[in-house]
Amino acid sequence: APPASSQLSGSLHVASVTLALLASPVQAYLDLFCLSQEKLRQVSGQLKKDMVRGLGKHTHHKAPVKMLPSFVRATPDGTEKGDFLALDLGGTNFRVLHVRVVEDLQKVLKMDSQICAIPKEMMLGTGQQLFDHIAKCLSDFLVSQDLKGQTLPLGFTFSFPCEQKEIDKSILIRWTKGFNCSGVEGEDVVKLLKEAIHRRGDFDIGSVAMVNDTVGTMMSCGYRDQSCEIGMIIGTGTNACYMEEMKNVKRVEGEDGRMCINTEWGGFGDDGSLRGIQTEFDLEVDKTSINPGVHTFEKMISGMYLGEIVRLLLLKLTEDKLLFEGQTSETLRTPESFLTKFISEVEDELSEEGKQPILSQLNLKWNEVDAHVVRLVCDTVSSRSARLCAAALAAIANHMRVSRKLDRLKTTVGVDGTVYRKHPNFSEELQETVRLLAPKCDITFLVSEDGSGKGAAMVTAVAHVCVLMLTFLGWWGHTTGSPPTV
Ligand code: BGC
Repeated sequence: APPASSQLSGSLHVASVTLALLASPVQAYLDLFCLSQEKLRQVSGQLKKDMVRGLGKHTHHKAPVKMLPSFVRATPDGTEKGDFLALDLGGTNFRVLHVRVVEDLQKVLKMDSQICAIPKEMMLGTGQQLFDHIAKCLSDFLVSQDLKGQTLPLGFTFSFPCEQKEIDKSILIRWTKGFNCSGVEGEDVVKLLKEAIHRRGDFDIGSVAMVNDTVGTMMSCGYRDQSCEIGMIIGTGTNACYMEEMKNVKRVEGEDGRMCINTEWGGFGDDGSLRGIQTEFDLEVDKTSINPGVHTFEKMISGMYLGEIVRLLLLKLTEDKLLFEGQTSETLRTPESFLTKFISEVEDELSEEGKQPILSQLNLKWNEVDAHVVRLVCDTVSSRSARLCAAALAAIANHMRVSRKLDRLKTTVGVDGTVYRKHPNFSEELQETVRLLAPKCDITFLVSEDGSGKGAAMVTAVAHVCVLMLTFLGWWGHTTGSPPTV
C-alpha cells in the first residue's frame, strides 16, 4: 500500500481536479442530467396523472402509461404444489425450466433448467422463427429431462407489454428491448407458441399462464414477505407493477378487492411529457434505437441504453476537446461499444486510482484527469437513472397510500434486474430518493434472489415463474367459470 502521505496527496489532487471540473464546460454537460428534487417531484406528479389516465375506461386507449390489468388478484399463500414447465423470455437469453414443488414452496423446490441463447438476428427476424426456436428449445429440454410423454402445465414469463385478455390469452402491444420480430405485435403470444409446438408435433403442453416479469417478481417475493405489493425491474428494461384498488381500475368490471396492474412505466413520456428533461443524448439514443418515439422513460433508465448514453456523452466531450486531448477512437465512435456493465466497473474503481482498463480497451489514450471525468460522467448518468426510478416508484407508493386512505403506507417492493443488483450505488441512491419523495411511505426493498451467481439467479427465475403458475393453477383447479381470481 502507498504511504499515507502519498495517499493524502493523491486525494488532494483528485479533490482539486474535481473543483476545477465543477466550474468547467464539462460540468455544463453534466448539469443537463442533474435533476433537482423539485424536478423529480414534477416527474412523479406527472406519472401519477398518467397512471390515472391509463386506468380510465375512456382514456386508457391513448395513455402512454398502459396500466395493464394482470388478472392477478391476490398474492400466493404457499400451499400450492405439483410439476410445471416454465419459460422465461425477456432478455437476450431464453430459459426453460422444470419445476417440481414437493412441499412448502419456501423449502422444497426441485428443478432443472436450460438456457438457450437468442441470436441477435432472431430478435429481429420473423415471429415464426422465434417461436419455432422456443419450441425446439422446449422439445430438447423435455428430451433431456425424460419428460416428453407428459403434458405439463406451462408458465410463460413474457417480459413485454401485453394486453392480457385472459390468463392464457395475451396480445403483444409492442416489442421492446431490442426485439422486433415481425408478425407478433397485435397477436396472441400463447397462440403463436402453441402453433409452433403443433408444427413440431413431437410433444404437447397443458394449460398456459402468461405473466409479466414484474408480476412474477412481486409474487415470488410475496412468498417471503406478505406485504410485498409492488414488483419492480431495473435491468435491460424497466417496469413496475402494484396492487391497485379494483374501484380505481375503471377498465375492468368490479369494484371489490385489488388487482395487480402492470404499469409499463417504460412508456412514460411517449406523449412528449418528459421533453423538458430529455437531453440531446437521450434524443440521439431514441433516434438510433430500433423503436424510435416509444418507451421514452425506459431509454433514460435501463441497462439497454445507459452505456450508450455514456458513450455519446464521452464522444461529445472528446469532440469538444474536453477529454482524451480531443482524440476519439474507432471503438468509441462505434455504437454500443460502451457496455452498461462498464459503468458499474468504472464507478467501482474509485479505490484503484488511475487504473482504467476499460478506457484502454476502448483504445483511448487517457490521463488521470480523463479517468476522473469518465467516472463523473458514469456517476451522473447512473444517478439520474436511479433518481428517475425513485420518482416513478414514489408516484406508485403515494398513489397507493392515498387510495387506501392511510396516513402512512408500509409496503415492500420486490426488485430484480441487473442494473439494480450490479451497480455499486444504484439501490442506495434510489432508496434515499424515494424516502424524500414519498415521506409518508415506509418502503422495504426485497431483491428477488438471496445469493449471487448463476445458481441463485436460476432459483429466482424458477420462483418467478412457478409461483405464478402455481397460483394460477390454484385458481384453475377450482374454477367453475368464475372470474380469474387467484
Ligand atoms: C417491458 C416490460 C418489462 C420490462 C422489464 C420492458 O421493456 O416493456 O414488460 O417488464 O421491460 O423487463
